Amino acid sequence: MARLLWTVALLGAFRSAVSKPLGLDKRWEELKVKHEWVDVPKGWVQVGRPPTDYPLKMNIGLKQERFDELLEHLYEVSDPEHHRYGSHLSKEEVDELVAPNSMTVESLEAWLTYHDIDPVSSLARTDAGDWVTVTIPICKVEKMLDAKYGVYKHVDTHETIVRTISYSLPSFLHEHVSVIAPTTYFGTMQAMKSHVLIEELVDDQVSTSETVSTQTDVPDSCLRDITPACLFALYNAVGYKPAATDRNVLGVAGYLDQFANYADLQTFLTANRPEAVGFNFTTEKINGGGDDQSIPGVEANLDIQYTVSLSWPTPNVYFSTGGSPPFIPDDFTPTNTNEPYLDWLKYVSSKPKVPQTITTSYGDDEQTVPRDYAIVVCALFAQLGVRGSSVLFSSGDSGVGGGDCLTNDGRNVTQFQPAFPASCPFVTAVGGTTGIKPETAIFFTGGGFSNYFPRPPYQNDDVADYIDKLDGAYDGLYNAKGRGFPDVAARGDRFRVVISGKTYHVGGTSASSPTVAGLISLLNDYRISHGRPPLGFLNPFLYSKGAAGLVDIVGGTNPGCGTQGFNATAGWDPLTGLGTLDFGKLQSLVLYEDED
Ligand SMILES: *[C@@H]1O[C@H](CO)[C@@H](O)[C@H](O)[C@H]1NC(C)=O
Ligand SMILES: *[C@@H]1O[C@H](CO)[C@@H](O)[C@H](O)[C@H]1NC(C)=O
Ligand SMILES: *[C@@H]1O[C@H](CO)[C@@H](O)[C@H](O)[C@H]1NC(C)=O
Repeated sequence: MARLLWTVALLGAFRSAVSKPLGLDKRWEELKVKHEWVDVPKGWVQVGRPPTDYPLKMNIGLKQERFDELLEHLYEVSDPEHHRYGSHLSKEEVDELVAPNSMTVESLEAWLTYHDIDPVSSLARTDAGDWVTVTIPICKVEKMLDAKYGVYKHVDTHETIVRTISYSLPSFLHEHVSVIAPTTYFGTMQAMKSHVLIEELVDDQVSTSETVSTQTDVPDSCLRDITPACLFALYNAVGYKPAATDRNVLGVAGYLDQFANYADLQTFLTANRPEAVGFNFTTEKINGGGDDQSIPGVEANLDIQYTVSLSWPTPNVYFSTGGSPPFIPDDFTPTNTNEPYLDWLKYVSSKPKVPQTITTSYGDDEQTVPRDYAIVVCALFAQLGVRGSSVLFSSGDSGVGGGDCLTNDGRNVTQFQPAFPASCPFVTAVGGTTGIKPETAIFFTGGGFSNYFPRPPYQNDDVADYIDKLDGAYDGLYNAKGRGFPDVAARGDRFRVVISGKTYHVGGTSASSPTVAGLISLLNDYRISHGRPPLGFLNPFLYSKGAAGLVDIVGGTNPGCGTQGFNATAGWDPLTGLGTLDFGKLQSLVLYEDED
């Protein structure tokens, strides 16, 4: 009650602020830091200042007042024991839950009005109104946010971006605005095929159409040479025929100018999945994303060749998200804001239908993503889950952490480095394995514990058991209360991939995530063709009923940060999660829950 009155009083104050700003100027001049880095993020050097009239497209994320309610829905519709299991929400229902309240909207508009920005003519808003975009000359943005933008260049990639080390907002707006971008997220996003990438050239004439009929039939060749046939055999999915291809869709999110090549897919299918020859995928271009067929991307081809060959003939869509073109200070490109996750998420969540399965093989070290920014992006993944999408991410290719593993918080201490978005509790993170009969964790498989997100209830027991087993090992190097990842695993090495007509071996958890996505898409097909809703957010199922359909991986370590890393053990572990998929068993488990 008290809170309500307070709200009404302030609303009144804001109405007058809009009409008579002079009396309340102070409110907009009292700025408080929203986010700042101690140092220029590692790998970046400032090479100049943007021109003062450079038009900056600001994305303003507004507080979603009913987000807790959205999470309640997410957990209910994703819990196989709950009577609402599978009752996913529509776009309109989600929009209602993520809409900002009127007080938030009025506060933002009053602030913009104070800075002579007309909230009616200048703003673009998402349907829910939770995101506002406005293009403003950078000199003005700097005043509004007490920020100093620089042009920064990455020492390895030579990518150039416009960012600031710190930004502020009027104290009063802190409770209404969740994030403003671009500001302090520099983005070191990488494809998760990193260091193992192209292992060797293999003879692309070799045919792999060995006939496999059961899981025990995994050909020995699969030890050194992974094909779709190997994955069907390894994960007990031989012979499944999709039947809901008019409704079921698999999406692959691509970034960093990685383009999936149509001709290479046909070459790959001819050699490795002959039944599917002639089958195509579509590309959706987002925010200036390209589709240049003269430069096939290794990551893009890996992702699409495996999702297509595993899920065929399920429609596959490749999302090519732009946003990281080189910034040329004297070429005014107002779209050059380089916020790939946000741009993709805003695009996909604005669609009336979202793909039932989505895989992404990119990530950052969690500590390089501002905490507020990571929380907002993670919340957008929860939105996809509640709408019935299974969202998969590679867990990373640096074991418990790459490089020196020093913290960037000014303390400079060694800490394991979890990967984001794998560390977000609302995605399913996929680790990597190697070998056959049995598979073991591959040495580079990313895994650990988030420093940003607390351990979610669905994995409480499994993760606590693992931490007990550690018996104090690595105390202080990881956050024992954090979200543990990955959740599941699949092979992560020696995948045949066709690039510019030639066959290579490619590895990384980049390969594992599309593999799991292909299998999950088949499970979604199985449910949908039996008149059931898709699986949606997978984790509550995987950590309960679904666990019986997973094969525990119990060998291997993931060294990093000068340590031996963790061990893959019986039960959940931060290398392979709960294990690899047994498609046949999962098939019976995914229909069982509503058999009554
Ligand atoms: C696949 O689609 C692309 C883009 O529309 C087209 O250029 C290509 O010829 C198609 N390939 C096949 C095999 O249909
Ligand atoms: C942290 O380490 C970096 C790299 O070794 C060094 O440049 C920096 O001065 C250190 N900062 C502190 C506070 O020790
Ligand atoms: C991993 O296993 C080895 C061999 O059993 C053991 O010596 C080591 O302490 C284990 N490490 C952790 C972190 O559990």
